Amino acid sequence: MTDLTQRKVGWIGAGRMGLAMATRLARAGCNLVVYNRTRAKAEPLAQHGARIADALADLRDCDIVFAIVSTSSDLEGVLVGPGGLVAGAGRGPRIVVDCTSISLEASAKLRAALAERGVEFLAAPVSGNAKVVKAGKLSFVASGPRHTFDEVEPYLLRMCQGASYVGEGELSRIVKICHNVFLGVVTQSLAEITVLAQKAGVPRHAFLDFMNKSVLGSVFSRYKTPAMVNLDFAVTFTPHLLRKDLDLGLDAGRRFEVPMPLASLARDMVQALIGNGHAEKDFAALLLLEARAAGIELEPENVPVSDGLS
Ligand SMILES: NC(=O)c1ccc[n+]([C@@H]2O[C@H](COP(=O)([O-])OP(=O)(O)OC[C@H]3O[C@@H](n4cnc5c(N)ncnc54)[C@H](OP(=O)(O)O)[C@@H]3O)[C@@H](O)[C@H]2O)c1
Repeated sequence: MTDLTQRKVGWIGAGRMGLAMATRLARAGCNLVVYNRTRAKAEPLAQHGARIADALADLRDCDIVFAIVSTSSDLEGVLVGPGGLVAGAGRGPRIVVDCTSISLEASAKLRAALAERGVEFLAAPVSGNAKVVKAGKLSFVASGPRHTFDEVEPYLLRMCQGASYVGEGELSRIVKICHNVFLGVVTQSLAEITVLAQKAGVPRHAFLDFMNKSVLGSVFSRYKTPAMVNLDFAVTFTPHLLRKDLDLGLDAGRRFEVPMPLASLARDMVQALIGNGHAEKDFAALLLLEARAAGIELEPENVPVSDGLS
């Protein structure tokens, strides 16, 4: 197994995903230095041996820097914006690995800007929420130079159950966008059928118990079951971030001339979720919107149900 102390590794972004992912690397003994805009959110990593940086410039002498922030423009800011990782003169890291969900266009632009500085870029977005990361079930999809993937793979494997290399350039971005379009569509569909079953008289826990045991059950339907049964909508992924991904999917559909009617509807349901005041809840709150539209008020069932992760 690769010695993770050989290279100095930087980490940008200690939000929900970044904190959970960097925690796994730090616990694996990686030589890690972490920057987060809001420093306090990165501080829990110190107990696992990571150093907390005050500025992005403190990560410039790293061999590899991982980033996971919110949107394309946030990523551009931390990497090539004023005061960013490779801003100004002097050397930057050898490799940047980005795990943010961003557009193909933004990714290509960043790859070119980093290449001008001699920095290799691996696009490596992820599937799974922070609890999935903690359970060791995260997945990466990566694209960029094969040799860069090979060098970074041992680090990826400390954070996930599998890393798929899909080719050169920005190919992993479209894979991730497709994945999250499916996430939005599936969640809206799950909300619709759960409300339908309930309105017809079936308790949600009984309905989802069957669905989870059926051929259509999945890791995802299982880990969203506690939220749907007991109405705990503590955020794992925000409606704003899901809307961003559905918009990226619709933009890509236009660019490649692929009709995406279900994605379009799901996007507007997520917009309605935000407009109805649920922006601070988990995106699974699509269930609440659906129930309201069906003319029923949901109550927590207060039934202990497994999320399939813990
Ligand atoms: N949550 C999920 O289930 C999930 C799953 C797969 C992929 N993703 C993707 O992963 C990315 C992060 O998601 P998340 O749920 O971890 O989001 P989050 O909890 O909102 O964290 C966002 C992170 O980005 C930083 N950030 C945002 N804008 C910034 C800026 N302009 N400059 C510097 N730092 C900035 C935040 O810093 P502060 O702490 O200072 O705000 C924070 O560390 C998104 O692209 C999302 O689509 C999320």
